[in-house]
Amino acid sequence: MALQIGDKVPDFEAETSEGPIRFYDYIDGKWAVLFSHPKNFTPVCTTELGYTAKLKDEFAKRGVVVMGLSVDKLVDHDKWAKDIEETQGTALNFPLIADHDRKVATLYGMIHPNASDTMTVRSVFVIGPDKALKMSLNYPASTGRNFDEILRVIDSLQLTAQHKVATPVNWKHGEDVIIVPAVSNEEAKERFPGGWKELKPYLRIVPQPK
Ligand code: BEZ
Repeated sequence: MALQIGDKVPDFEAETSEGPIRFYDYIDGKWAVLFSHPKNFTPVCTTELGYTAKLKDEFAKRGVVVMGLSVDKLVDHDKWAKDIEETQGTALNFPLIADHDRKVATLYGMIHPNASDTMTVRSVFVIGPDKALKMSLNYPASTGRNFDEILRVIDSLQLTAQHKVATPVNWKHGEDVIIVPAVSNEEAKERFPGGWKELKPYLRIVPQPK
């Protein structure tokens, strides 16, 4: 069965563009993003990897480590990395798994046989410091993902983990947030001494905590 939110993600060992890595050691105690892209030397993937490399400081600010995956050989990763740097203006700065035997792709359900039985779809897994899956998504090969949206989701997840708030529709960093229903008014008074706007007893709005 596909990995579901709350599941502990599986560990693996893999060859990557930065040497052999055991996944649990790499993500240990940190937030992490693991994402697949269908194939090396393909146009949409080239743009995605370049953009993700550009976001290095944004991921670091949030304490997030990133790892990519492609079902290609390490030698091809090295060649393709040069193209990414040349065309996107940024060199790869995170490990890219060389999953030519599709071991990790299969473990994480990144191959959807009715789409393609050789390439992965565009999967993203956001993993918490407890190694539990917090969010996943799958896009088809022809649609590049919005990595700014991945950052937005991470901001929301981290606010929930740290402050017990949820984020409303189309929320952006800095906008008001919602006290999660599991927080009683008594607890809310302690957590949010400045008070909140109560539109309904279940809809309590506060400024985004810092
Ligand atoms: C691409 O990355 O551009 C791509 C990969 C596989 C199928 C279609 C597009």
